Amino acid sequence: MIRIDGKVAIITGGSRGQGAATAGVFVAAGATVYITDVDDAEGEAVASSCGCTYLHHDVSQPAEWAAVVDRVVADHGRIDVLVNNAGIIEWRTMTDTSLEVWERVVAVNQTGPLLGMQAVAPVMKRQGSGSIVNLSSIGGLGGSSPCFAYGATKWALRGMTRGAAQELGPFGIRVNAILPGSVESQMIAGMDRENLIKATPLRRIAQPEEIGRLSLWLASDESGYVTGADHVIDGGMKA
Ligand SMILES: NC(=O)c1ccc[n+]([C@@H]2O[C@H](COP(=O)([O-])OP(=O)(O)OC[C@H]3O[C@@H](n4cnc5c(N)ncnc54)[C@H](O)[C@@H]3O)[C@@H](O)[C@H]2O)c1
Repeated sequence: MIRIDGKVAIITGGSRGQGAATAGVFVAAGATVYITDVDDAEGEAVASSCGCTYLHHDVSQPAEWAAVVDRVVADHGRIDVLVNNAGIIEWRTMTDTSLEVWERVVAVNQTGPLLGMQAVAPVMKRQGSGSIVNLSSIGGLGGSSPCFAYGATKWALRGMTRGAAQELGPFGIRVNAILPGSVESQMIAGMDRENLIKATPLRRIAQPEEIGRLSLWLASDESGYVTGADHVIDGGMKA
């Protein structure tokens, strides 16, 4: 198993789903993990069951990013890994996307990762190392008509990942995007599971830990020459 002993990681949206599963994978691999979220009750429960620390944190708020980074640096003096995982979805077509919905989805899915990369970059630059993982989606590879704003932010995150990788590479900081297909979590509640499975050559929906293990590889030194890349993990859906 890949080890990340001694690394200090922040995982946003860690109160459930992929964020919580990734926290478990990282802790088992030897990391010190901080999960952040707006759902405090679930976040505290995940933290006590998996052995990490929970911090309240709305990723769309710059001051809350500063508080998270200050706390982790005060505790450990470093940040090795940021997983920008928090995300929301709204099932609205382009025509039905109100400005309020658009701005809410962009604030969490796109502005959140921007603020996160800006907040950790100075710390990682001082260290001369770091790995940032951005949770995009295969929705960022094609049209996402029924969830228009969501798809737009996932496209944007792929571009942001590449631009940040170009800028931060000379400082020893890697930035990668993960593009999952269907993953067992609250986000796919209400979707037609049979159709999802039929559209997936591996004929199943991913377990959140499987995405966590890809994040683990990207967080680890095993992927030391990998940056600015899309990592599709979709059971072959886009093959
Ligand atoms: N589930 C899927 O099929 C799937 C597929 C592709 C990509 N993704 C992406 O993976 C990531 C994780 O999704 P998931 O499947 O675990 O979904 P989820 O809905 O189970 O979890 C999302 C988490 O983000 C948190 N969150 C929401 N708004 C926040 C905010 N403003 N600040 C901090 N935290 C906030 C929620 O409270 C929740 O704990 C998301 O970015 C999602 O877009 C999911």
